[in-house]
Amino acid sequence: MREARLDTPPTLGVAFQDADHEESVNGFNTLMEAVEAAAADPDRLSAAVTAMSDYVDHTRAHFGREEEAMQAAGFPPYPMHKQAHDSTLQDLETMLGRLRAGEAEACRDWLARDFITWFHEHLASMDTVTADFLRENGYG
Ligand SMILES: [Fe+2]
Ligand SMILES: [Fe+2]
Repeated sequence: MREARLDTPPTLGVAFQDADHEESVNGFNTLMEAVEAAAADPDRLSAAVTAMSDYVDHTRAHFGREEEAMQAAGFPPYPMHKQAHDSTLQDLETMLGRLRAGEAEACRDWLARDFITWFHEHLASMDTVTADFLRENGYG
């Protein structure tokens, strides 16, 4: 099985998004290691909870920066992109709660399957369309 890690995503040509995505990939890979360790050894749970909590914080800030730029630029499908962010943040919070409750394996499986898929699809669709709009309107 392929290792459950995120690869560096293709750049979108908007500096703040590219920087956030690179940080997000690095943070995710650190998180995966911590959650895999916790799934193998319950003594590692609290380190995994800290890593997951840091990742949720970074993701909230990353989404917030995109949302601010979309609003400043008057991006018409803003509500759709914002809704995708909100629902993913909610899922991350739910999984953080489950991790705190000791469900390291469920958290690892969700991150490895659902989150990795979501991340690739979101960057290739909504984030790409947003980056094109920001650049065309002088916000990139
Ligand atoms: Fe993004
Ligand atoms: Fe986004």
